[in-house]
Amino acid sequence: MIVFKKAQALHNYLEKIASKNVSIGFVPTMGALHKGHIELINRAKQQCNFVVCSIFINPAQFNNKTDFEKYPVTIENDILLLEENETDVLFLPSVNEIYPEGTNVLQHYNLGYLENILEALYRPGHFQGVCNVVDHLLNIVKPQKVFFGQKDYQQTLVVKVLMQHFHPRIKMIVEETMRENDGLAMSSRNMRLSNSARKKATAIYQALQFIKQNIPNKNLDELKHEAASIIINNGFSKIDYVEICDAESLLPVNDLHQHKNLIALAAAFIDDVRLIDNLFIN
Ligand code: PAJ
Repeated sequence: MIVFKKAQALHNYLEKIASKNVSIGFVPTMGALHKGHIELINRAKQQCNFVVCSIFINPAQFNNKTDFEKYPVTIENDILLLEENETDVLFLPSVNEIYPEGTNVLQHYNLGYLENILEALYRPGHFQGVCNVVDHLLNIVKPQKVFFGQKDYQQTLVVKVLMQHFHPRIKMIVEETMRENDGLAMSSRNMRLSNSARKKATAIYQALQFIKQNIPNKNLDELKHEAASIIINNGFSKIDYVEICDAESLLPVNDLHQHKNLIALAAAFIDDVRLIDNLFIN
């Protein structure tokens, strides 16, 4: 695996690779890699001849300073994992490399209502930060395909809008969420949980499963209310949202029976760590 720290050097290298008719697959990450990330790498390997992964903890997408400062960094382990999984290139830029003019002068993207619902309400500016970095990374790497996880469902819709406008020729692939044996969605932030919080954290998945299983018997308010109780009764300290939405638009629904594809989503805090998860429910 070759590690690049400079965007121009990576860009020049990949241009040569692409000119030999080699398809490039790209997996952008913030590191602290787990099996969910590795699944994306493996999928990229299956679908492309050459795989690039980036690790960049993007300051522009953190609305909470402590969350940024406490974001886990396990770079040695990440490099080992990527090498074991035969990644061809790792891009490991500095903040200055991505934002030479600082993070106060960001580009603004029109994301429509996606910026006024769910994650966007609780993490102001988050998706603008995501778009800035993803747009920049795609311009550097210029892959044929880019791989994202369903775990961050709203992010996949936001990036879709970004790509329709600015990178229409790149194909976006969304992979299913990888889970621990007890159902907890794998996440870099899980590393920050104490042992006891880690055991309780599966409640967020149980709550989503409760919604899925009880759709035929309960109304919308009951489903959301009882799912929230499962989360709080298992030791979460605060819920940002438990919502049932149309899976295509991500708009919250008023009537469960008027939509073909529904998705349940939740965001809640345990041990001061904010976890998110989602589940298709029909
Ligand atoms: P990060 O949280 O590191 O996630 C990188 C990619 O891995 C994202 O597409 C995410 O959805 C996916 N992923 C995370 N957990 C997963 C799981 N359990 N199963 C499957 N895929 C999973 O998401 C980001 O970084 C950043 O916002 C980024 C896109 C890199 C921009 O900075």
